[in-house]
Amino acid sequence: MRATDVIARKRDGEELTTEEIRWFVKGYTEDRIPDYQAAAWLMAVYLRGMTRRETFDLTVAMAESGDRLDLSPVIPYAVDKHSTGGVGDKVTLVALPLVAAAGVPVAKMSGRGLGFSGGTLDKLESIAGYRVVLSDDEILRQVREHGIVLCGQTRSLAPADGKFYALRDVTATVSSLPLIASSIMSKKLAAGANAIVLDVKVGVGAFMHQIEEARELAQIMVDIGVSAGRRMVALLSDMNQPLGQAVGNALEVREAIETLRGGGPADLREHCLTVAAHMLRLGRQDTAPDAFERARADVLGVLESGAGFAKLRELVEVQGGDVRMVDEPDRLPRARLQEVIPVPRAGFAQQVHALHVAQATLELGAGREKKEDSIDPAVGVIVHCKVGDRVEAGQPAFTVHANDEARLARARGHLERALVVGDEESAPLPPFYATIYGDD
Ligand code: URA
Repeated sequence: MRATDVIARKRDGEELTTEEIRWFVKGYTEDRIPDYQAAAWLMAVYLRGMTRRETFDLTVAMAESGDRLDLSPVIPYAVDKHSTGGVGDKVTLVALPLVAAAGVPVAKMSGRGLGFSGGTLDKLESIAGYRVVLSDDEILRQVREHGIVLCGQTRSLAPADGKFYALRDVTATVSSLPLIASSIMSKKLAAGANAIVLDVKVGVGAFMHQIEEARELAQIMVDIGVSAGRRMVALLSDMNQPLGQAVGNALEVREAIETLRGGGPADLREHCLTVAAHMLRLGRQDTAPDAFERARADVLGVLESGAGFAKLRELVEVQGGDVRMVDEPDRLPRARLQEVIPVPRAGFAQQVHALHVAQATLELGAGREKKEDSIDPAVGVIVHCKVGDRVEAGQPAFTVHANDEARLARARGHLERALVVGDEESAPLPPFYATIYGDD
């Protein structure tokens, strides 16, 4: 087989065979196919698309390009979750302990943030000492003994995706549905999940801006999972405004702790309960008609009893984190400067623009523009309004947590554009737009 032939066939809109896709992925992973040919192939895929069969083959080829985590000795039926990335999305920090506390063990590998979307690992690292790098043996032992693991992706998991993703990033080929779907699902398949809950974000603070586009991405991922023998649920959730109030690493950990203690913003609490209930239902392999309602009642029970909070505490302790930061969140990193930005006029909040809020937090140093950038765990923004709220002039719109005056001034510029207040009443945004099931 020759790389130029595979590239040419895709360039001309033909459907590649399973063998061609496997050969190309293997060749690129093993450095026999150079970046310039892989780049040409990615652009051909970007422009011509892929059939469902090709997308599935690409996913499996990438999932099989490295090690696979076998959780079966410790979790007979493993459930995982994945978010396509949003602003203020700290759902994993809440949902995972709830599921584990409700009796289904969970081992999740999370990623770091890049660009406007935050990453769970960065959030966790605002807890002093928390170890995100665990060996496979440590993961298995911890699941057996504690029923919960939350760590980083090991380098050997789906290495083909790591290589392709870095190339896509610099060749303007990221935003292709088959490439995104295969990238996400290859890592999930390699991480050993039997069932997966996907939280597909849609809106101005997400990859996908339109519901129909997000629905298509979700359906492609659900189909890949089902073809691979996994049970799947995909939620299409709103990302036009930030989720919860806190955006920024330590601020989000604090909000997750508050939520597990029974407080926290209502939208975040509801979102976490829904994701956790889907995970619990799938993890129990419960297909009864009322399985979701019972799972939701159970995750609500462990939230209200404090068992979910105790599970987070246990997780932090066993992974070496300073558990005093969980008990007393005031000990989490705190920024030197705090400034309240007021609501400019009375009316109704029409827009709390997630991307502008994300850009403000990036300016403050909470995220990365490039992979190598370091982040400041303490900085971020607290968002005091939700779309649909009635607001008065002068009430707090945002509280900015900053460590640098110049950065604070730039963040203020973004935030002043983020909140749009009008005279017309505005309906609150729905938390979810749709649920797609692939688990019959
Ligand atoms: N997240 C991934 O892991 N891959 C993509 O291509 C996009 C988002």
